[in-house]
Amino acid sequence: MEDRFGHRINYLRVSITDRCNERCLYCMPQELQEWLPRSEILNFDEITRLVRVASGLGVTKIRITGGEPLVRQNVLELFHRLGELTKITDIGISTNGSLLARTVENGETVARALMKCRVRTVNISLDTLDREMYRSITGRDFLPQTLQGIAAAKQAGFERVKLNAVLMRGRNEDGLSDLVRFARAENLLLRFIELMPVTTTDVLTEANFLSVGEARRRLEGEFGPMIPEPEFKTNGPALYYRFAGSLQRVGFIGAMTNLHFCESCNKLRLTCEGKLRPCLGSHLEFDIKTPMRQGATDEDLRRFFCEVVERKPEQHDFRYNYQPGRRMVAIGG
Ligand code: 5AD
Ligand code: SF4
Repeated sequence: MEDRFGHRINYLRVSITDRCNERCLYCMPQELQEWLPRSEILNFDEITRLVRVASGLGVTKIRITGGEPLVRQNVLELFHRLGELTKITDIGISTNGSLLARTVENGETVARALMKCRVRTVNISLDTLDREMYRSITGRDFLPQTLQGIAAAKQAGFERVKLNAVLMRGRNEDGLSDLVRFARAENLLLRFIELMPVTTTDVLTEANFLSVGEARRRLEGEFGPMIPEPEFKTNGPALYYRFAGSLQRVGFIGAMTNLHFCESCNKLRLTCEGKLRPCLGSHLEFDIKTPMRQGATDEDLRRFFCEVVERKPEQHDFRYNYQPGRRMVAIGG
């Protein structure tokens, strides 16, 4: 599938639940959260079917997100089924990490069970190493569990484990170098992400926005010059840098300040309630669940995917269209 701007779409992000065991300020801040009713959420047959249809159109990579994907009941069964789709060569998961160290019936960790279902990469959110700050950002005192989850992910044998830290002025800005040191010691790939205007409250003001440029300058002040590594690419829009005299790479996702952010976009998103979103930063969404539940054939669904890709915008409109009414937790990051 290719859009009007020559973006080849080979990557589908799949949100499998709007629920989460944390309450990150920038994602789903309010305590009284209204969840979508179960019947509105795609079931495992529907998710697997849509991923299979997409794989017939050239999608080879998927990333499972939430909410927190690991709070979905029997989630390993879903991963098992997705792992059987042979055209999907690259399966990832984005998680807050708090449940990765849990054990399943046979005594292995959730992380290990995921690895056995062909999951190759795990992205774990970690905004701070300060327990009190972690609690204030995520609304939960889960730093110890999350660190255990990171350890479990390292042990499980994934191809890559990444850490994601959302930059917030006045919150984690003084802890960025601690995160860099932690990632270095643990040999994990750390990425810093600019806060995007996707939430339900007013946490996203100019006052708490911290750009990737400033974060990089602060780190350079502490660790010395950083050298851009334009050749190094993962799946997403991160730009990677290396510290002079060190092998450690750090990624920067400048969703707001990098004007080339959307140029290499290869993604489509499927929300947990069955809407296809051609772009995270746009309100455009197309309900594929209703036709599917009304008996659409695979061919109908294929056509639907292609029509959505046709409508993919050239770039997101966050910069011009600052709308705090979106719920990241239901879109999937
Ligand atoms: N801005 C930037 N990143 C966000 N994430 C969630 N909400 C936001 C936001 N408003 C990130 C989380 C997680 C990933 C799935 O999305 O840090 O790592
Ligand atoms: Fe949950 Fe992730 Fe959203 Fe935090 S960012 S509330 S961990 S889904």
